[in-house]
Amino acid sequence: MSPSGDAEACRVILALETSCDETAIAVMVGTDLVASEVASQIAIHGAYGGVVPEVASRNHLKVVRPLLQTALTKANISLENVDAFAATNGPGLATSLMIGASVAKGMAVALGKVFLPINHLEGHLLSPFLSVKGGPCSSVALVVSGGHTLIVRIEGLGRYRLLGKTVDDAAGEAFDKVGKLLGLPYPGGPHINRLASTGDARKWSFPRSMLGSGDFHFSFSGLKTAVRYFLQREVNFSVEDVCASFQEAVIDVLVKKTMKAVRAEGVDTLAISGGVSCNSRLRECFFSACEKEGIKLLLAPPSLCTDNAGMIAYVASLRLSAGAPSALQSEIQPNLRLDDFTSVFTSEHRIS
Ligand code: KG4
Ligand code: ZN
Repeated sequence: MSPSGDAEACRVILALETSCDETAIAVMVGTDLVASEVASQIAIHGAYGGVVPEVASRNHLKVVRPLLQTALTKANISLENVDAFAATNGPGLATSLMIGASVAKGMAVALGKVFLPINHLEGHLLSPFLSVKGGPCSSVALVVSGGHTLIVRIEGLGRYRLLGKTVDDAAGEAFDKVGKLLGLPYPGGPHINRLASTGDARKWSFPRSMLGSGDFHFSFSGLKTAVRYFLQREVNFSVEDVCASFQEAVIDVLVKKTMKAVRAEGVDTLAISGGVSCNSRLRECFFSACEKEGIKLLLAPPSLCTDNAGMIAYVASLRLSAGAPSALQSEIQPNLRLDDFTSVFTSEHRIS
């Protein structure tokens, strides 16, 4: 191993992720994620039925110091051992992003270390590769979260080509809105998943929008509206059956379009990430679709699917290895897109 290889093998990265309502801190030593702590604010925002930005930033401030201590203790290191600090710089809520970025920059300045701003979407996108030797490989990826539904062709680190995206609601947003219509706690996704496990997915037929559109784009707002009209119209139904039927409609479209993209691109690897990829039925359907077609499926463990700092530390480690410089002057970018650091995209194919 080269001297720089030795240095990389024991390099310590501390990353913060505060793009929305989760405060997350992770420590990566070499290629090992040795701590990945998340302080969830779901219980706080649940009372409002969604995330309240000011409440989120106040809570980030409250928990960030104790969480930092927990992460350092778990990693068995002190701050002086950290070689580089990283934080999510977008996309996300400005007042939330500011907390993580300011704390990470402050520590980097005080200790004379490197600071790297990391794109939250790139964090999700590459999270399935965290335990893959050699890192990101040529593949198709599905990022399916509360804010995004994207099919992306990965050609290498920072070389991403958009194949498709939602034209309206993200899949996770549809889960959460339907959860709200059904009177379930926020966020609805995990509750729908749980209730659907005892429901009949064929009991009700909900629309599979844009299945035949001939492209790789999605639409989920019509499905949500169909559930709303259904609930106004029908009186005899079980919540479990509605959850299972709605969930099946979302997953059916995600699987069919994504597998079509995999075939069209001729790749042998599919990487799926984002909060909705925790869904047990989604995982099951993608496992069997990939098995049938001889495609290697990469799925992060559930703790790395929802918002976390492990994925931010991982991208920071890849970028450092690729020679990324410290960027203490960088600003948060609440509207950051996945393609903001790559030249592969044309203007009409920008990822948002
Ligand atoms: O990736 P994430 O934590 O945050 C964003 O960047 O958006 O994703 C959160 C989304 C929420 O919409 C939540 O309802 C959904 O992921 N989610 C699920 C499940 N677990 C989380 N959706 C369906 N089934 C689940 N088990
Ligand atoms: Zn996210």
